[in-house]
Amino acid sequence: MALAFRNTLALVMLWLLPPQSVAGPGYLACYYGCLGVCFTAGVAAAGICPPAGLSGAAACTSGCAAACTPTLLACFSEDTRVQVLNGTGVAVVPLSAVAPGQRLWSFYQSKPLAVKVLENQRLQGNFSFVELVVVSGDQRFSLAITESHNMPRLRRSAPELREAHLEVATAEELRVGDIVATGVSRLGFGVVSELRRMQKSVKHVLTTETGSVVANNILSSTICDGRDDIYNRSSWLVTLNQWQALHEERLKQM
Ligand SMILES: *[C@@H]1O[C@H](CO)[C@@H](O)[C@H](O)[C@H]1NC(C)=O
Ligand SMILES: *[C@@H]1O[C@H](CO)[C@@H](O)[C@H](O)[C@H]1NC(C)=O
Ligand SMILES: *[C@@H]1O[C@H](CO)[C@@H](O)[C@H](O)[C@H]1NC(C)=O
Repeated sequence: MALAFRNTLALVMLWLLPPQSVAGPGYLACYYGCLGVCFTAGVAAAGICPPAGLSGAAACTSGCAAACTPTLLACFSEDTRVQVLNGTGVAVVPLSAVAPGQRLWSFYQSKPLAVKVLENQRLQGNFSFVELVVVSGDQRFSLAITESHNMPRLRRSAPELREAHLEVATAEELRVGDIVATGVSRLGFGVVSELRRMQKSVKHVLTTETGSVVANNILSSTICDGRDDIYNRSSWLVTLNQWQALHEERLKQM
Protein backbone atom coordinates (compact mmCIF):
# COMPACT_ATOMS: atom_id res chain seq x y z
CA MET A 1 0.00 0.00 0.00
CA ALA A 2 2.83 2.38 0.85
CA LEU A 3 4.30 1.90 -2.60
CA ALA A 4 0.99 2.47 -4.37
CA PHE A 5 0.52 5.58 -2.27
CA ARG A 6 3.90 6.97 -3.23
CA ASN A 7 3.34 6.21 -6.90
CA THR A 8 0.05 8.05 -6.78
CA LEU A 9 1.79 10.97 -5.15
CA ALA A 10 4.43 11.07 -7.84
CA LEU A 11 1.61 11.50 -10.36
CA VAL A 12 -0.11 14.11 -8.24
CA MET A 13 3.10 16.06 -7.94
CA LEU A 14 3.64 15.99 -11.68
CA TRP A 15 0.36 17.67 -12.46
CA LEU A 16 0.39 19.98 -9.52
CA LEU A 17 3.81 21.53 -9.89
CA PRO A 18 5.27 23.72 -12.60
CA PRO A 19 7.68 21.56 -14.64
CA GLN A 20 10.86 23.34 -13.53
CA SER A 21 10.25 22.43 -9.91
CA VAL A 22 9.63 18.74 -10.40
CA ALA A 23 13.23 17.98 -9.47
CA GLY A 24 12.80 19.67 -6.10
CA PRO A 25 9.11 19.37 -5.26
CA GLY A 26 7.88 21.48 -2.37
CA TYR A 27 6.50 19.73 0.64
CA LEU A 28 3.36 21.84 0.79
CA ALA A 29 2.56 21.38 -2.87
CA CYS A 30 2.89 17.66 -2.42
CA TYR A 31 0.95 17.69 0.82
CA TYR A 32 -1.99 19.67 -0.47
CA GLY A 33 -1.97 17.72 -3.71
CA CYS A 34 -2.17 14.61 -1.61
CA LEU A 35 -5.06 16.00 0.46
CA GLY A 36 -6.81 16.81 -2.81
CA VAL A 37 -6.50 13.21 -3.92
CA CYS A 38 -7.85 12.06 -0.57
CA PHE A 39 -11.11 13.90 -1.15
CA THR A 40 -11.76 12.71 -4.67
CA ALA A 41 -13.69 9.63 -5.67
CA GLY A 42 -10.59 8.09 -7.19
CA VAL A 43 -8.95 7.37 -3.86
CA ALA A 44 -9.89 3.72 -3.62
CA ALA A 45 -9.05 3.14 -7.24
CA ALA A 46 -5.69 4.83 -6.73
CA GLY A 47 -4.81 2.25 -4.09
CA ILE A 48 -5.03 4.45 -1.00
CA CYS A 49 -7.09 2.16 1.15
CA PRO A 50 -8.22 3.14 4.61
CA PRO A 51 -7.28 0.74 7.42
CA ALA A 52 -10.22 -0.57 9.45
CA GLY A 53 -11.59 1.86 12.01
CA LEU A 54 -10.77 5.06 10.17
CA SER A 55 -12.90 6.93 7.73
CA GLY A 56 -11.50 6.92 4.22
CA ALA A 57 -10.54 10.56 4.14
CA ALA A 58 -8.96 10.60 7.60
CA ALA A 59 -6.88 7.53 6.84
CA CYS A 60 -5.77 9.03 3.60
CA THR A 61 -4.85 12.46 4.91
CA SER A 62 -2.95 10.99 7.84
CA GLY A 63 -0.68 9.31 5.32
CA CYS A 64 -0.02 12.49 3.36
CA ALA A 65 2.50 14.09 5.66
CA ALA A 66 4.70 11.02 5.80
CA ALA A 67 4.44 10.39 2.10
CA CYS A 68 5.38 13.97 1.28
CA THR A 69 8.30 14.25 3.64
CA PRO A 70 11.48 13.01 2.07
CA THR A 71 14.28 12.79 4.63
CA LEU A 72 16.16 15.40 2.62
CA LEU A 73 13.64 18.06 3.50
CA ALA A 74 15.10 20.83 5.57
CA CYS A 75 14.05 22.57 8.79
CA PHE A 76 14.53 23.40 12.43
CA SER A 77 16.07 21.75 15.44
CA GLU A 78 13.56 20.56 18.05
CA ASP A 79 14.87 22.91 20.76
CA THR A 80 14.16 25.97 18.59
CA ARG A 81 12.03 28.46 20.50
CA VAL A 82 9.27 30.50 18.93
CA GLN A 83 6.85 33.10 20.26
CA VAL A 84 3.29 31.83 20.29
CA LEU A 85 0.22 33.97 20.89
CA ASN A 86 -1.69 32.63 23.85
CA GLY A 87 -4.82 34.57 24.68
CA THR A 88 -3.76 38.17 25.15
CA GLY A 89 -0.06 37.45 25.67
CA VAL A 90 2.90 35.83 24.01
CA ALA A 91 4.61 32.74 25.36
CA VAL A 92 8.05 31.55 24.30
CA VAL A 93 7.80 27.81 23.66
CA PRO A 94 9.91 25.09 22.02
CA LEU A 95 8.83 24.07 18.54
CA SER A 96 7.89 20.67 19.91
CA ALA A 97 4.97 22.38 21.72
CA VAL A 98 3.56 24.12 18.62
CA ALA A 99 0.41 22.88 16.88
CA PRO A 100 -1.12 23.74 13.49
CA GLY A 101 -3.59 26.61 13.80
CA GLN A 102 -1.61 28.42 16.49
CA ARG A 103 -0.17 31.83 15.68
CA LEU A 104 3.54 32.61 15.88
CA TRP A 105 5.34 35.91 15.59
CA SER A 106 7.06 36.82 12.39
CA PHE A 107 7.87 40.02 10.53
CA TYR A 108 6.53 40.99 7.17
CA GLN A 109 7.24 44.27 5.44
CA SER A 110 9.01 45.34 8.63
CA LYS A 111 5.87 44.91 10.76
CA PRO A 112 5.36 42.24 13.40
CA LEU A 113 2.70 39.81 12.29
CA ALA A 114 1.08 36.82 13.98
CA VAL A 115 1.20 34.05 11.38
CA LYS A 116 -0.80 30.85 11.43
CA VAL A 117 1.03 27.52 11.64
CA LEU A 118 0.05 25.20 8.77
CA GLU A 119 2.26 22.28 9.63
CA ASN A 120 4.64 21.23 12.38
CA GLN A 121 6.02 17.77 12.00
CA ARG A 122 8.65 16.05 14.11
CA LEU A 123 10.87 13.68 12.14
CA GLN A 124 13.55 11.28 13.29
CA GLY A 125 16.66 10.35 11.34
CA ASN A 126 20.21 11.58 10.90
CA PHE A 127 20.11 15.17 9.66
CA SER A 128 22.91 17.58 8.77
CA PHE A 129 22.49 20.89 10.60
CA VAL A 130 24.19 24.23 10.54
CA GLU A 131 24.12 26.23 13.76
CA LEU A 132 24.63 29.95 13.35
CA VAL A 133 25.55 32.34 16.11
CA VAL A 134 24.37 35.89 15.47
CA VAL A 135 25.58 38.98 17.32
CA SER A 136 23.27 41.98 17.38
CA GLY A 137 24.42 44.86 19.57
CA ASP A 138 25.04 43.31 22.99
CA GLN A 139 22.75 40.38 22.26
CA ARG A 140 23.72 36.96 20.99
CA PHE A 141 21.36 34.47 19.37
CA SER A 142 21.85 31.03 17.90
CA LEU A 143 19.72 28.91 15.62
CA ALA A 144 20.25 25.39 14.30
CA ILE A 145 18.67 24.64 10.93
CA THR A 146 19.21 21.93 8.35
CA GLU A 147 21.79 22.76 5.73
CA SER A 148 19.35 23.33 2.87
CA HIS A 149 17.01 25.52 4.92
CA ASN A 150 16.32 28.92 3.31
CA MET A 151 17.29 32.04 5.24
CA PRO A 152 16.96 35.75 4.56
CA ARG A 153 20.40 37.40 4.32
CA LEU A 154 21.37 40.99 3.59
CA ARG A 155 22.74 41.36 0.04
CA ARG A 156 26.45 42.13 0.08
CA SER A 157 25.78 45.20 -2.11
CA ALA A 158 23.02 46.53 0.18
CA PRO A 159 23.44 50.25 0.88
CA GLU A 160 21.58 50.06 4.20
CA LEU A 161 20.01 47.69 6.72
CA ARG A 162 16.52 47.20 5.33
CA GLU A 163 14.22 44.24 4.87
CA ALA A 164 13.92 45.21 1.18
CA HIS A 165 17.63 44.44 0.77
CA LEU A 166 17.37 40.85 2.01
CA GLU A 167 18.01 37.98 -0.38
CA VAL A 168 17.53 34.24 0.18
CA ALA A 169 20.42 31.87 0.96
CA THR A 170 20.52 28.29 2.18
CA ALA A 171 22.09 27.68 5.59
CA GLU A 172 25.12 26.08 3.97
CA GLU A 173 25.62 29.18 1.82
CA LEU A 174 25.89 31.42 4.90
CA ARG A 175 29.34 32.73 5.82
CA VAL A 176 30.80 34.35 8.92
CA GLY A 177 30.34 38.11 8.50
CA ASP A 178 27.00 37.81 6.67
CA ILE A 179 24.18 39.96 8.01
CA VAL A 180 20.85 38.34 8.88
CA ALA A 181 17.60 39.72 10.30
CA THR A 182 16.58 39.47 13.94
CA GLY A 183 13.20 40.07 15.54
CA VAL A 184 13.02 40.64 19.26
CA SER A 185 10.47 43.44 19.61
CA ARG A 186 11.15 44.95 16.20
CA LEU A 187 12.95 43.95 13.05
CA GLY A 188 16.71 44.29 13.48
CA PHE A 189 19.93 42.96 12.06
CA GLY A 190 22.90 40.99 13.34
CA VAL A 191 26.20 39.60 12.09
CA VAL A 192 26.84 35.86 11.73
CA SER A 193 29.83 35.34 14.02
CA GLU A 194 30.11 31.54 14.05
CA LEU A 195 28.89 28.64 11.97
CA ARG A 196 29.01 25.06 13.22
CA ARG A 197 28.14 21.82 11.45
CA MET A 198 26.45 19.02 13.37
CA GLN A 199 24.22 15.97 12.99
CA LYS A 200 20.92 15.77 14.85
CA SER A 201 18.50 12.89 15.15
CA VAL A 202 15.32 14.99 15.18
CA LYS A 203 14.08 17.89 13.10
CA HIS A 204 10.86 19.85 12.86
CA VAL A 205 9.26 20.69 9.53
CA LEU A 206 7.42 23.90 10.38
CA THR A 207 5.38 25.81 7.80
CA THR A 208 3.52 29.06 8.39
CA GLU A 209 1.07 30.86 6.13
CA THR A 210 3.53 33.62 5.18
CA GLY A 211 6.50 31.28 4.75
CA SER A 212 8.40 32.99 7.57
CA VAL A 213 8.82 32.87 11.33
CA VAL A 214 10.98 34.37 14.07
CA ALA A 215 12.86 31.42 15.58
CA ASN A 216 15.26 31.93 18.49
CA ASN A 217 14.88 35.66 17.75
CA ILE A 218 16.23 35.22 14.21
CA LEU A 219 14.03 35.81 11.15
CA SER A 220 13.84 32.64 9.09
CA SER A 221 11.82 31.24 6.23
CA THR A 222 9.72 28.11 6.59
CA ILE A 223 10.53 27.30 2.97
CA CYS A 224 12.43 24.22 3.75
CA ASP A 225 13.08 22.45 0.51
CA GLY A 226 16.48 23.73 -0.48
CA ARG A 227 17.35 25.80 -3.52
CA ASP A 228 14.36 26.22 -5.75
CA ASP A 229 14.88 28.59 -8.63
CA ILE A 230 11.15 29.04 -9.21
CA TYR A 231 11.61 31.75 -6.56
CA ASN A 232 13.45 35.05 -7.14
CA ARG A 233 16.14 34.37 -4.57
CA SER A 234 17.70 37.78 -4.97
CA SER A 235 14.72 39.17 -3.02
CA TRP A 236 13.39 37.80 0.26
CA LEU A 237 10.12 39.75 -0.04
CA VAL A 238 9.55 38.66 -3.66
CA THR A 239 10.29 35.06 -2.68
CA LEU A 240 7.70 35.20 0.13
CA ASN A 241 5.13 36.70 -2.24
CA GLN A 242 5.85 34.02 -4.83
CA TRP A 243 5.62 31.29 -2.21
CA GLN A 244 2.28 32.66 -0.98
CA ALA A 245 0.90 32.99 -4.52
CA LEU A 246 1.95 29.45 -5.32
CA HIS A 247 0.12 28.17 -2.26
CA GLU A 248 -2.82 30.57 -2.28
CA GLU A 249 -5.44 28.11 -3.48
CA ARG A 250 -4.38 25.62 -0.85
CA LEU A 251 -4.06 28.21 1.89
CA LYS A 252 -7.69 29.24 1.36
CA GLN A 253 -8.74 25.72 2.28
CA MET A 254 -6.99 25.84 5.67
C1 LIG B 1 0.51 32.43 28.30
O1 LIG B 1 1.89 32.14 28.53
C2 LIG B 1 2.35 32.66 29.75
C3 LIG B 1 3.86 32.45 29.79
O2 LIG B 1 4.19 31.11 29.53
C4 LIG B 1 1.61 31.96 30.89
O3 LIG B 1 2.06 32.46 32.13
C5 LIG B 1 0.12 32.23 30.74
O4 LIG B 1 -0.59 31.50 31.70
C6 LIG B 1 -0.34 31.80 29.34
N1 LIG B 1 -1.75 32.18 29.17
C7 LIG B 1 -2.65 31.36 28.64
C8 LIG B 1 -4.02 31.93 28.47
O5 LIG B 1 -2.39 30.20 28.32
C1 LIG C 1 24.97 10.57 10.28
O1 LIG C 1 25.38 11.13 9.05
C2 LIG C 1 26.74 11.56 9.08
C3 LIG C 1 27.01 12.32 7.80
O2 LIG C 1 26.47 11.67 6.70
C4 LIG C 1 27.67 10.37 9.30
O3 LIG C 1 29.01 10.80 9.33
C5 LIG C 1 27.31 9.71 10.62
O4 LIG C 1 28.08 8.55 10.79
C6 LIG C 1 25.82 9.36 10.65
N1 LIG C 1 25.48 8.91 11.97
C7 LIG C 1 24.69 7.88 12.19
C8 LIG C 1 24.39 7.56 13.62
O5 LIG C 1 24.21 7.23 11.26
C1 LIG D 1 13.96 39.74 -8.55
O1 LIG D 1 13.52 40.74 -7.63
C2 LIG D 1 14.31 41.91 -7.68
C3 LIG D 1 13.82 42.81 -6.56
O2 LIG D 1 12.44 43.07 -6.67
C4 LIG D 1 14.18 42.56 -9.06
O3 LIG D 1 14.99 43.71 -9.12
C5 LIG D 1 14.67 41.55 -10.11
O4 LIG D 1 14.48 42.08 -11.40
C6 LIG D 1 13.90 40.25 -9.98
N1 LIG D 1 14.50 39.26 -10.87
C7 LIG D 1 13.77 38.52 -11.69
C8 LIG D 1 14.54 37.53 -12.51
O5 LIG D 1 12.56 38.61 -11.76
